[in-house]
Amino acid sequence: MKKRILAYGRLNEAQLAQLSRDFEVQDFHGLDSFDDSTFRAALPEAHGLIGSNLKILPELLEEAPSLEAIASVSVGYDNYPVETLTERGILLCNTPDVLTETTADTGFALIMATARRVVELADFVRRGDWQASIDRDHFGSDVHGKTLGLVGFGRIGAAVARRGALGFGMQVRYSNASPKPALEAELGAERRELDELLAEADFVCVTVPLSEATRHLIGPRQLALMKPSGILINIARGPVVDEAALIEALEMGRIRAAGLDVFEREPLSPESPLPHMANVVALPHIGSATHETRTAMAQRAVDNLTLALHGERPISLVNEGAWEKRRGRQPRP
Ligand code: DGY
Repeated sequence: MKKRILAYGRLNEAQLAQLSRDFEVQDFHGLDSFDDSTFRAALPEAHGLIGSNLKILPELLEEAPSLEAIASVSVGYDNYPVETLTERGILLCNTPDVLTETTADTGFALIMATARRVVELADFVRRGDWQASIDRDHFGSDVHGKTLGLVGFGRIGAAVARRGALGFGMQVRYSNASPKPALEAELGAERRELDELLAEADFVCVTVPLSEATRHLIGPRQLALMKPSGILINIARGPVVDEAALIEALEMGRIRAAGLDVFEREPLSPESPLPHMANVVALPHIGSATHETRTAMAQRAVDNLTLALHGERPISLVNEGAWEKRRGRQPRP
């Protein structure tokens, strides 16, 4: 009997067809909540889940006794109870690498847009306010030659840094749990404590994953350390930045601007002042959202799940412990 998969997002026809060759696939495309009764009815028989954007709580797993693997169409896995999955021997797979460059492009777009006030001034033209040569009130600030501080220096942080160092002659500073000697040699990057980095950088770009250790990593104290001319970019996860503190810092002119692809609550609440602030560029979480990259991410998830359900090691595995458990070994301490 074929194993059963519940698919709830971001797969194209060819990818669904690929899965259907080996598995029984139930397509829940567009599912916006796990409260859906048809989904819940199918869950007890499911061996695999594939999708993105919906938070899986440990309680939901109680209803999925046959579940062997979850393939998330995302690199971030803050939506999953990793510890519970590992205890239950359920493999969690993600999609690193294929989205690195696209997400770094988004980060750099935000750097350029905030520094050169691209959105604000495009709106100025659109409104018909361009009646004479613009004056210094509309000047932006340079990007080239400035100091770029990366908070987190994983794949995406390094790809943003590469753009800055090699394309724009920027000095790169980074804060990260471990040093990155190869990137230091490649980009002339220098490691700093977070506080030092915040004080030194012209652009602070947040790329750390969300965890309990990074929730509100950038709060009022950290924002106060930034230069008044400093610009904060967040392409990681909204809750890494204390949004109320950020709004206050922007309103009080404690920092110059912010470029945000992610928010504490998504979609952004209509009450949020952020999209209405002239010194904010707010995007609807489009880090990896290009046709090419979203297709590649979905394909990686399909390949991960196919391997996992055939008892083979997936390409991108988040919880090594679950793999060891499935193979009958004890997880390493
Ligand atoms: C990711 O892959 O984690 C991106 O944020 C898109 O969801």
